[in-house]
Amino acid sequence: MSGTQIKVSAVNKVFQTADKEVVALKDINLEIPQGQFVCLLGPSGCGKSTLLNAVAGFSLPSSGSITTDGKLVQKPGPDRGMVFQEYALFPWMTVEENIAFGLEIKGSGKAEIQQKVGALLGMLGLSDFRRRFPKDLSGGMRQRVAIARVLALDSPIMLMDEPFGALDALTRRNLQDELLRIWSELKKTIIFVTHSIEEAIYLADRIVVMTYRPGTVKRDIMVELPRLRDPSAAEFNALKRELGQLVMEEQQRHHNDEIKMAAVD
Ligand SMILES: Nc1ncnc2c1ncn2[C@@H]1O[C@H](COP(=O)(O)OP(=O)(O)OP(=O)(O)O)[C@@H](O)[C@H]1O
Ligand SMILES: [Mg+2]
Repeated sequence: MSGTQIKVSAVNKVFQTADKEVVALKDINLEIPQGQFVCLLGPSGCGKSTLLNAVAGFSLPSSGSITTDGKLVQKPGPDRGMVFQEYALFPWMTVEENIAFGLEIKGSGKAEIQQKVGALLGMLGLSDFRRRFPKDLSGGMRQRVAIARVLALDSPIMLMDEPFGALDALTRRNLQDELLRIWSELKKTIIFVTHSIEEAIYLADRIVVMTYRPGTVKRDIMVELPRLRDPSAAEFNALKRELGQLVMEEQQRHHNDEIKMAAVD
């Protein structure tokens, strides 16, 4: 790992709704070196997607700044690829057309596109499915296509918003293992949002636990366990308990908030 690649400085994000202001992020500071695998962990509504979208450039901070390689993030850019929970594939395109799409927009040559798409189909075990449409694929396969599509653009940064949340446990573990393989092979920097504690410990170099509204950094932990990690190991479970406690405190705050709001209504 070398140098800071993503720098989040004093970021606040306030949403205006018809009747109130929601402070979604408050004073977030993070420095992420090139090649690090970071998981953002926290209960629903704590601002994980808001932070990821700000790094992606889809929605800018109300104050503070985000830079990648020293350059201010003002809009989405080719250095950052995003994988969404809902796959976001084009239903009218086949698997290979979906993967090739970004390269075509970029104006890559035919031979280059063919070579890259072929390599990615192989890397993600999709070669036999290249001519299928998304509707004829399982959730796990669709998510592979979504990952391949981002990899096609060769962005050094991958932003992933609960990409495996909708998958069954076995498919999820397979994709986690594949993602780890790709990450170590291609040396990507990854910010991966999850509310699964086990997923965060299985994947991350570093886990950033967020507080519930306003979203702040509650704890920033390096995970030193060797990979591939064993979820049944004592150290894995000790960390799981520690993180479980932290997340539960925030879930409780969420719950208390809802009770308070119900009383006001
Ligand atoms: N466009 C918006 N307008 C108003 N409020 C918003 C908007 N987007 C997010 N929020 C609010 O900001 C807070 C953080 O939302 P965000 O979607 O980032 O949470 P999250 O941690 O990703 O949750 P989840 O795990 O459910 O995806 C929430 O209270 C949400 O209601
Ligand atoms: Mg979210």
